[in-house]
Amino acid sequence: MVGRKRPLVVITRKLPDPVETRMRELFDARLNVEDRPMTQPELVAAVKEADVLVPTITDQIDAALIAQAGDNLKLIANFGNGVDKIDVSAAAKKGITVTNTPNVLTEDTADMTMALMLAVPRRLAEGANVLTGDKKWAGWSPTWMLGRRIWGKRLGIVGMGRIGTAVARRAKAFGLSIHYHNRHRVLPAVEDELEATYWESLDQMLARMDIISVNCPSTPATFHLLSARRLALLQPSAYIVNTARGDIIDEDSLVKLIQDGKIAGAGLDVYEHEPALNSKLLKLAAKGKVVLLPHMGSATLEGRIDMGEKVIINIRAFFDGHRPPDRVLPLRT
Ligand code: 8YV
Repeated sequence: MVGRKRPLVVITRKLPDPVETRMRELFDARLNVEDRPMTQPELVAAVKEADVLVPTITDQIDAALIAQAGDNLKLIANFGNGVDKIDVSAAAKKGITVTNTPNVLTEDTADMTMALMLAVPRRLAEGANVLTGDKKWAGWSPTWMLGRRIWGKRLGIVGMGRIGTAVARRAKAFGLSIHYHNRHRVLPAVEDELEATYWESLDQMLARMDIISVNCPSTPATFHLLSARRLALLQPSAYIVNTARGDIIDEDSLVKLIQDGKIAGAGLDVYEHEPALNSKLLKLAAKGKVVLLPHMGSATLEGRIDMGEKVIINIRAFFDGHRPPDRVLPLRT
């Protein structure tokens, strides 16, 4: 980009310091040092002026916003993997390229999935609360605080992409047998390594698993993929873990089934109406039926710096006249 005017890059949220420093060096970077989420009118003003917008999951980059973008806006370089908040088709129609940050958050998200997979059956939050709560701990007893074993159980992974596969590797080491449902079967070498069983029918898989992990992206096709009807197929002893997106599960139905004892519990990092939370989930958390995290799946310092570096690489490649490595294409309908 030597000798050329530096692109105006508007970054909607505060990013880790090393990422912001590098962005300042390379671009005419407009930072959000106070980390106040931008309002829709502020986003409109940003897309009218910027050459590049760097949004996050907290920004709604819909067709109405994209329609108001100025001629300068040529790139939306998402700080995040999921592009469910970006209307990629509307962007493509306006000649705006969209990129994301795959790979670098895979292992962190898989770790958090594993943590939730252990947390609910092994009553992690309940146990931790015993020591910090109002009542004094009366001491150990053979029949107290008993959870459920995960070793030897069947794990059904919905969405066997990068994160699903990373979850499978961890879960196999914890003694779970691996089952998965995906649009396409994964390579035989991966199936062999994981000793994984492919289920073409999601319904059939759901009915036979002890734990379900949701690891597919949120798209129109996966909205309420775990619908009331499908959730009702789960065994009453089954647990469900979601570190993908809240709207893949019909949350009201999940709550009802757990309340009625028809599903054993859930570990959730994402919510259908995030950041708003269904108050019934809080009641279930108080009873130890669910463990709730505030969208922390990829929240490591290393991961967030790597994500920022990916954003920078995508912007630089684009302005150097190359195809950015993490270009996102509109979904085929
Ligand atoms: C990020 C995520 O925290 O990358 C994703 O898709 O869900 C997250 O873990 C978030 O998207 C950052 O914008």
